[in-house]
Amino acid sequence: MIELRNVQKSYDGGATLAVADTSVVVERGEFLGLIGASGCGKTTTLKMINRLEEPSSGEILVNGRNVLKQNPELLRRNLGYVFQGIGLFPHRSVAENVAAVPCLLQWEPHKIQTRCEQCMELVGLPFAE
Ligand SMILES: Nc1ncnc2c1ncn2[C@@H]1O[C@H](COP(=O)(O)OP(=O)(O)O)[C@@H](O)[C@H]1O
Ligand SMILES: [Mg+2]
Repeated sequence: MIELRNVQKSYDGGATLAVADTSVVVERGEFLGLIGASGCGKTTTLKMINRLEEPSSGEILVNGRNVLKQNPELLRRNLGYVFQGIGLFPHRSVAENVAAVPCLLQWEPHKIQTRCEQCMELVGLPFAE
């Protein structure tokens, strides 16, 4: 469950209001799309959930826990975030990129392979080692 409570974010010492007083609850298993014009604050909202940015005010909870009170690296290992333009390891295969976080979590190799195959099938990518 992800919850935003009156979250606000400004940049440039308050000159740019990127996200204004946003409250939303996303329940487990629920899908939420953020739709809006370029610059309306979609990316900033997502970045605040996994602590790539910090809110200027308000609270964000993941599974009932305030994200600001969690270790950012451990928080991110449980939150999938697909970057718009960057974020792949160019020297690794597609499968190795998909397996990056499960490897950090030290899953069993067999479990990593099975899960990667499932994920790649889900998005229509043929699996190759
Ligand atoms: N790091 C930053 N520094 C200053 N202003 C920023 C920064 N990131 C985003 N903004 C500004 O915040 C607003 C929201 O941006 P963003 O969240 O990227 O919107 P979206 O993803 O909906 O296109 C825009 O006005 C953008 O210029
Ligand atoms: Mg964006």
